[in-house]
Amino acid sequence: MLIINTIPALRQQLQLWRAAGEQIALVPTMGNLHAGHLTLIEQAQAQAARVVVSIFVNPTQFGPNEDFASYPRTLAADQQHLEQLNVDLLFLPEVATLYPEGACTRVEVGQLATLHCGASRPGHFSGVATIVTKLFNLVQPDKACFGAKDFQQLSIIRQMVRDLDMPIEIISVPTVREADGLAMSSRNGYLTPEQRALAPKLYQSLQAAHAAIFAGDRDYAALQQQQIAWLQSVGFTPDYFVVCKQVNLQPATPDDSELVILVAAKLGKPRLIDNLSFSLSL
Ligand code: PAJ
Repeated sequence: MLIINTIPALRQQLQLWRAAGEQIALVPTMGNLHAGHLTLIEQAQAQAARVVVSIFVNPTQFGPNEDFASYPRTLAADQQHLEQLNVDLLFLPEVATLYPEGACTRVEVGQLATLHCGASRPGHFSGVATIVTKLFNLVQPDKACFGAKDFQQLSIIRQMVRDLDMPIEIISVPTVREADGLAMSSRNGYLTPEQRALAPKLYQSLQAAHAAIFAGDRDYAALQQQQIAWLQSVGFTPDYFVVCKQVNLQPATPDDSELVILVAAKLGKPRLIDNLSFSLSL
């Protein structure tokens, strides 16, 4: 596996592959790789001859009181996973390489970025859109893989690619879960053993709402309140629990059929997110 830290070396290598007619897929990550990330990489390998993985803890997507400094950095283990998977290239830039002094341009995605996680984390999605744009410009991949675990992030990237005519196919990869249903996340490592035992209840709240909707319940406001109250009663501090339209993440009405339930809740230190998307028209 090639490990590249600089922009000129990255461009030089990619040019060789492109000249040989090889398709390139990109998997952007912040490292601390788990089975969710590895599934994205396997998908990328199934879709393109060459796979580039980036590891970059992106400062512009963290708020001032968030965990940028303490975000888990586990490069040696990450590198081992990537070697085992035969990844072609690991792009590992320094912060100063991607944000040199004076860099100030940001990508703003509009309303989609102000909802849900965007409301609780101002500037977060602008930071994500900016770094993903930069990685797209640097790597110029044919395809890029993102996890459905971060449903709103995925929606925002699709919107951005459409709006800015980026010639990149966005591939969505289903959420990889622990055996007890907890969505894998680098932030799960912050949970104490007691919190870890409670954490699968987040997914259970999504499943309960999903079951009620499938059974015919269309009073989404009441359903949301019920699940928020239940999450509170078992020890979470819920941020939001919303039944939305998949297409624009606006609140769903009883007439909508392509739905996604989005949830975010704090459990001790970490704020966990999860979602469940489904169609009522089948
Ligand atoms: P990170 O949290 O490291 O996630 C990298 C990619 O892995 C994202 O596309 C995310 O949705 C996906 N992922 C995380 N957990 C997953 C799971 N349990 N199942 C499936 N996919 C999962 O998301 C980011 O980094 C950053 O915002 C980034 C896009 C790299 C921009 O900085």
